[in-house]
Amino acid sequence: MAVIEIKKGITWVGALDWDRRLFDELIPLPDGTSYNAYLVRGSEKIALIDTVDPSKTGELLENLQEAGVTRIDYIVSQHAEQDHSGSIGDILEIFPQAVVVTNEKCKAMLMDLLLLPENKFLTVADGQTLELGGKTLEFIFAPWVHWPETMLTYMREDKILFSCDFLGAHLAQSRPMLSDENRTYQAAKRYFAEIMMPFRIQIRKHLEKLQGMQLELIAPSHGVVYPRPAFILDAYSEWASDRTRNLALIPFVSMHGSTREMVEYLTGALTRQGVDVIPCNLIHTDIGELAKELVDASTVVLASPTVLGGAHPAIAHAAFLVNALRPKLKFAAIIGSYGWGGRTVENLLASLSNLKVELLETVLAKGYPQKKDYQALDNLATVIAAKHRGIGVLS
Ligand code: FEO
Repeated sequence: MAVIEIKKGITWVGALDWDRRLFDELIPLPDGTSYNAYLVRGSEKIALIDTVDPSKTGELLENLQEAGVTRIDYIVSQHAEQDHSGSIGDILEIFPQAVVVTNEKCKAMLMDLLLLPENKFLTVADGQTLELGGKTLEFIFAPWVHWPETMLTYMREDKILFSCDFLGAHLAQSRPMLSDENRTYQAAKRYFAEIMMPFRIQIRKHLEKLQGMQLELIAPSHGVVYPRPAFILDAYSEWASDRTRNLALIPFVSMHGSTREMVEYLTGALTRQGVDVIPCNLIHTDIGELAKELVDASTVVLASPTVLGGAHPAIAHAAFLVNALRPKLKFAAIIGSYGWGGRTVENLLASLSNLKVELLETVLAKGYPQKKDYQALDNLATVIAAKHRGIGVLS
């Protein structure tokens, strides 16, 4: 990869993972990802801000060579997760005079995860600074952007925020500077949904902490560098807020067509009532898309056939994820079909315990839906529209 200077004395030396398609063996990556590492050259000291995933250590080392690096004084480790810390050991071997700059909690995690020796660390406190010579790094603790030890780094003279995972996106792009706001917005929203959404309250506090700071660039550890910080800060403010849209999401699976018929009927009924609807066939929809739509949906309707005495495993999986991601949903309902019985509703309700939602009427059809089932779906659509009107998202 080519190394790119994003501002005088600050060079992107990270790695792109164009064809990675899964993160944590869980999160789909339709656009690949990047592990952004930044080299900061002061007049006296040189710092490397984060490293890369261990699978990409070779690229980082080539980039450092291309950038003409013969000395590293500090490796700033903002987050212990291995996609950013995984090359620290290799860097220390090549640059043995370097010390790892991080906070106490991250240090302990790096020692556990990477087996780094304690004498290689310099620990810093929240708000502490590190002088490189004409470039001052200020460390801002930001626990629970999804791990407890994360910190951000603000470079005062250049007004750059190195934001680690926070404000990032799983996106591989050849040049690190943002070039397509729409594509980046979608990738960043999906990333927020999958990683940050369960921590919305903490995210809001971190956003408050950044208010009033002079920012000219935001340089996260995944995705692209933002030359217009308000672009991503405003998006995060909206996503982390309690505001929802006039949107009902219907994750569904259908085995023999009954549940699909109910989903299609409900979609039509909701549409006629003025509610936006996204039916997500879980056999084809990846969970990242589902998560992204959950960021601002007001209602979720889980739609499942009955199999093995309960909810279809794909719906059970979706319910588990919805519950774990803790979206700001206001209303939920369960619809579906069965042949002779089952515990679909009990299964799904037990999986939704984290959600602070109002549960709406369940509609279950025995076999193929009949007149009374269609009437129940019409009623459900009317109730959802009224609820959306009640919270002010449908006028
Ligand atoms: Fe990109 Fe939490 O690591």
